[in-house]
Amino acid sequence: MNSKDTAHALRIDAVSKRYGNVVALHATSIDVPHGEFLTILGPSGSGKSTLLMMVAGFEQPSSGDIRVGSRSIVDLPPERRNFGMVFQGYALFPHMTVAENIHFPLRVRGIGGSTAVERVRNAMEMVRLDHLADRLPKQLSGGQQQRVALARALVFEPDIVLLDEPLGALDRKLRAEVQIELKALHERLGATFLFVTHDQEEALSMSGRIAIMCDGRLVQIGRPDELYERPVNRFCASFLGDSNFIEGAVVERDGEAVVYQAGQRRFRQIAGAGQSGDRIVLALRPEKISLCEREPVDKVNRLTGVLAHFNYFGSYFHYTLRTDDLGTVLVTAPAWQSPVAPELGKQLHITWDEDAAHPVLEGPSP
Ligand SMILES: Nc1ncnc2c1ncn2[C@@H]1O[C@H](COP(=O)(O)OP(=O)(O)O)[C@@H](O)[C@H]1O
Ligand SMILES: [Mg+2]
Repeated sequence: MNSKDTAHALRIDAVSKRYGNVVALHATSIDVPHGEFLTILGPSGSGKSTLLMMVAGFEQPSSGDIRVGSRSIVDLPPERRNFGMVFQGYALFPHMTVAENIHFPLRVRGIGGSTAVERVRNAMEMVRLDHLADRLPKQLSGGQQQRVALARALVFEPDIVLLDEPLGALDRKLRAEVQIELKALHERLGATFLFVTHDQEEALSMSGRIAIMCDGRLVQIGRPDELYERPVNRFCASFLGDSNFIEGAVVERDGEAVVYQAGQRRFRQIAGAGQSGDRIVLALRPEKISLCEREPVDKVNRLTGVLAHFNYFGSYFHYTLRTDDLGTVLVTAPAWQSPVAPELGKQLHITWDEDAAHPVLEGPSP
């Protein structure tokens, strides 16, 4: 199907899914431009697979429409949608070898000869399976089977690729390698990718945009840096990266900034919203807080605490401070520039810039 005639490769239009009394997906709309790498990120049970299964054609929407170009595809069976797909439980052919499994989509499309041989070989190299070409699926580990499925989904160079946690069974190092290959392949093919994961680092590093889901709803969609820097609510701030939350009350406006009180202290936030008396919740990333041994008296946003824990991760430290006014505060700092020799119980000071925090809403829905 030629979908290159409109601006969007794929349009998910007010699609919902109900199973009896369970709403697996509330009405959700997403426009996916040609060539985008869109990641659907969310915790288990948030509706990611339900959404992807409807795009694939394995499930029918309870309402709404799905279009490729200008054409509705909801009545097309999966095989006629011509998407590359990796789904959990979308099994390999047990009687075919690795190479035959990967060759299969080319065979059904009538692609043969040296083109097919070369594409199968490239696909196997991409997923690091060229040495296992003649094995049967039952002779492979779970991670190896997953990689065969990935190669089989991509070998016929589809316009749209749907991947539901395709790297879930791979160990960390191999996963990182396949991530890089997959990203390179995406750029080379120019295909549109819908990629489901619950892994925030994978989402941040691979995606053009990320759609964050919670309880069957799309909560926020945007570029990785937008979502990380400007999460709309507490859920997004804590699901994508770590965050401290400061709860306070606005004391006064001061030009572009608000002065707010949390505990017994006052702090300033540029671009904070609200009028005197309003409640305010701010997300403050742990890496935006500086630790100091001397009190930074020239800074407005500063606080004293006691080091309660620290964790060493090789390249960086996690520090947990106990403070009277903000409770427990998490701070991260690169190990190489760490100003503090960690000593439990030690009194330390923290400071953050007036634009370092970001106001967020309370609930999971914006
Ligand atoms: N076939 C089904 N029958 C009943 N409920 C389902 C079915 N499939 C999914 N659900 C429910 O829909 C919700 C979303 O599931 P799912 O899309 O699989 O989430 P995710 O992929 O994000 O883990 C869950 O509450 C799940 O239990
Ligand atoms: Mg799922």
